[in-house]
Amino acid sequence: MQKAATTAAIVYQVVGPAPKLKAADKNSTVGLGCIGVGIRGSQLWQSFQKVEGARILAACDLYDGYLEHAKEMAANPIDTTKDYQKILSRSDVDAVVIAVPDHWHHRMVLEALAAGKHVYIEKPMCWNIEQTTDLMRAVDRYKGRVVQVGSGAKTTAQTAAARAAIASGALGKINQVRMENHRSTAEGAWVYPIPPDASEETIDWGRFVGPSPKKAFDPKIFFRWRCWWEYSGGVATDLFVHLLTGMHEFMNVTAPKSVVSQGGIYRWNDGRTVPDLMQSVFEYPEGFLASMHVNLGNGRGSGGATTIISGNEGTLVFEGRGKVVLYPEVILPDVQRYGSLAWPKAKREKYFEDNGCNPDGSWKTPPAPPKPMQEIAIERKLSHQELFIQSIRDGLPSQESAAVGHAAAGSAHLANLAFRKGRRMHWDVKTGKVSEG
Ligand SMILES: NC(=O)c1ccc[n+]([C@@H]2O[C@H](COP(=O)([O-])OP(=O)(O)OC[C@H]3O[C@@H](n4cnc5c(N)ncnc54)[C@H](O)[C@@H]3O)[C@@H](O)[C@H]2O)c1
Repeated sequence: MQKAATTAAIVYQVVGPAPKLKAADKNSTVGLGCIGVGIRGSQLWQSFQKVEGARILAACDLYDGYLEHAKEMAANPIDTTKDYQKILSRSDVDAVVIAVPDHWHHRMVLEALAAGKHVYIEKPMCWNIEQTTDLMRAVDRYKGRVVQVGSGAKTTAQTAAARAAIASGALGKINQVRMENHRSTAEGAWVYPIPPDASEETIDWGRFVGPSPKKAFDPKIFFRWRCWWEYSGGVATDLFVHLLTGMHEFMNVTAPKSVVSQGGIYRWNDGRTVPDLMQSVFEYPEGFLASMHVNLGNGRGSGGATTIISGNEGTLVFEGRGKVVLYPEVILPDVQRYGSLAWPKAKREKYFEDNGCNPDGSWKTPPAPPKPMQEIAIERKLSHQELFIQSIRDGLPSQESAAVGHAAAGSAHLANLAFRKGRRMHWDVKTGKVSEG
């Protein structure tokens, strides 16, 4: 006989004011250089500028308008440049914040480490799976340097709440995780506006193309680069990566062993080459499947992002930001009124009798109702950017290391390989070996 549920639901709710990183002392600051001050780089700028003990000294970008905007954002006078080497060669820059298109990530992180800098690198850690493996290994050569990948999903209070709920064992054996992130606007599909002054006069196109194949100037590509494989990995590396990073943390796992994918361009037929809809199913060695879904053609259903974790004793659901609810499986003693429906009357009544029921199948003593809902408060945490400064200042390990970035970005690239080859792809995260079949 199975056990009855004991609690209606457990709500983990993030509460209280956000904590703030305090500066160690007035005289010690971490000097920052920001490479890439476009959309994400501007957000990071605002965030780092608020961190006590961090000081932004310089900005690098390839578009004049964004450098002008950086000056507008800056709390102190800053230097600006289109050459990131100038940032790397400054002795007062302790750390660089890199928020450039993906095809530049691998090279810039390696050069920044070689120049002795700590590195905050935006997700996805690298543009392809070989680069993520290479970078993970290379980072070991630079002991004492902090490399933190920028997917905040790793360090949120909500992820911590989910991890605690799962670790409590209340879900039983988990066999499935389902995660979605849908949106249907042009902005959501990366069709960003092109500034009226965009030209080869205001943009250093040669540096943008950089390590990718030569290409004639195209402002559409410069501002909407996520739509092309040469610079991006599409929805998988842009959005799956966040889901995967958070999921690896709350499930306390490293990486999948295989994946299958389907996808295509179903809505945004605007010249892009990457899919605008993709669904991938990842298989984990711990014995569960995780499916990731991104649809840029319909934003409803998930209301942004959905996470459902299913175990044989409970289901954990992310309900908006900052709330995680655990619904125990309502498992009553196993008396089958439906399964025994076609039994002869006497046999069925005897079956009910043997299982604590009246001859009509109703309970002699009804099972105890579940206890009322229980609430558990989860404290807010330092921001992902504060954690980076804290790691540098206090000599702590990275809160989202290159190994973590490798596992998340590598998984997303594996999903892309499965989609592009139309094959199931296998991965050994430790050796980096990829195979198909
Ligand atoms: N963590 C998050 O939530 C999050 C959110 C958005 C974007 N991102 C990541 O941030 C990165 C940037 O995305 P974005 O939306 O800001 O793109 P963006 O196009 O708005 O900005 C990228 C900037 O990089 C600059 N750039 C390109 N090549 C350069 C080079 N060689 N040297 C100096 N600057 C160069 C461009 O001039 C551009 O301004 C991407 O990797 C993206 O995946 C992360």
